[in-house]
Amino acid sequence: MSDSAPRKVVRLRGDGIGPEIADAVEFVFDEAHAGIDWLDFPAGATAIAEFGEPLPESTIEAIKDAGVALKSPIATPIGEGFRSVNVELRKALDLYANYRPVRSIPGVASRFENVDLIVIRENTEGLYSGLEHEITPGVVTSLKVSTRKASMRIAEFAFSLAERAGRKKITAVHKANILKLSDGLALECYREVAGQHPEIEYDERIIDATAMALVLRPEQFDVLVMENLYGDIISDLCAGLIGGLGLAPSANYGEKVAVFEAVHGTAPDIAGKGIANPTALLLSAVEMLDFIGKRNAAQRIREATVATLSEGKATTADLGGSASTMEFAKAIVSKLR
Ligand code: NAI
Repeated sequence: MSDSAPRKVVRLRGDGIGPEIADAVEFVFDEAHAGIDWLDFPAGATAIAEFGEPLPESTIEAIKDAGVALKSPIATPIGEGFRSVNVELRKALDLYANYRPVRSIPGVASRFENVDLIVIRENTEGLYSGLEHEITPGVVTSLKVSTRKASMRIAEFAFSLAERAGRKKITAVHKANILKLSDGLALECYREVAGQHPEIEYDERIIDATAMALVLRPEQFDVLVMENLYGDIISDLCAGLIGGLGLAPSANYGEKVAVFEAVHGTAPDIAGKGIANPTALLLSAVEMLDFIGKRNAAQRIREATVATLSEGKATTADLGGSASTMEFAKAIVSKLR
């Protein structure tokens, strides 16, 4: 697709701070002439009010049709019998690969200045299969599911992404010394796919040692691939290396569909005040622009966002500043080239 042709994208404006940060993204995209037609569909509290369920079928069908969606955070009501919208969305669209790029932003206070890595998480199985049983009162089991199909698919995703992104090395993260069969099967698959990509260096690390190495010397890592639970934990740890979840973009990929999202929640404590930081959603939306071939707009918005954060004059309260969400967005627009 040409960079300038308009593209339809489904948008879930979400709950809490969701609509506020979605508006900020729309403002920056409009000013950058990114050429996106937003198609708003309900999910979360708005959908419960209108349809009696948090994820209506019409929303899922719209995402399938458009092939791409931008999702603001969504609240899952506790104790009302609804399952997490995030988990349901991943299942309904078979979004098997979670992608989190983690890059230091110059000038933003964080523990490290030289982080540039990507975490790839298998999104569909492992301990998230929901297979828990009470054997007898006081004794429960949770089943960790590991299949050749899912492990091969995530390994192929990781290697082809590394190739496209010009990355040099993939580290498979596991606990096969203890989980010899489940993580053992995953490692077999990773090795098989690694054998088909000799140009990319491949190594393996145990999850606990990886966690320590990441907080000591994150620059030694490039792309990391792992099963569901390890990915959940390690991707948040990595966001912490560059200043927290508020700065971390994310995407979920299926075979035909991709959903881009901020990984933080709905921030009910600051919702409605107009002070939320839109960076995570904005950078996720920028990843989306790259994905749909609008690389020029992606590059311009990414550079303006990083420049605004680095300058530090118009940042939101979570980063120690006093700018509102829209003041921050306007500062980004003023730096668009
Ligand atoms: P949270 O991420 O919403 O909030 C944690 C803390 O971070 C709060 O102090 C909040 O003000 C702050 N924060 C989060 N995002 C921010 C932003 N963009 N700018 C400035 N400050 C920000 O996590 P919490 O409180 O555990 O969850 C609240 C709700 O969000 C729950 O209903 C939960 O189910 C939902 N949630 C949704 C997610 C999603 O849709 N991807 C992910 C995590 C939680």
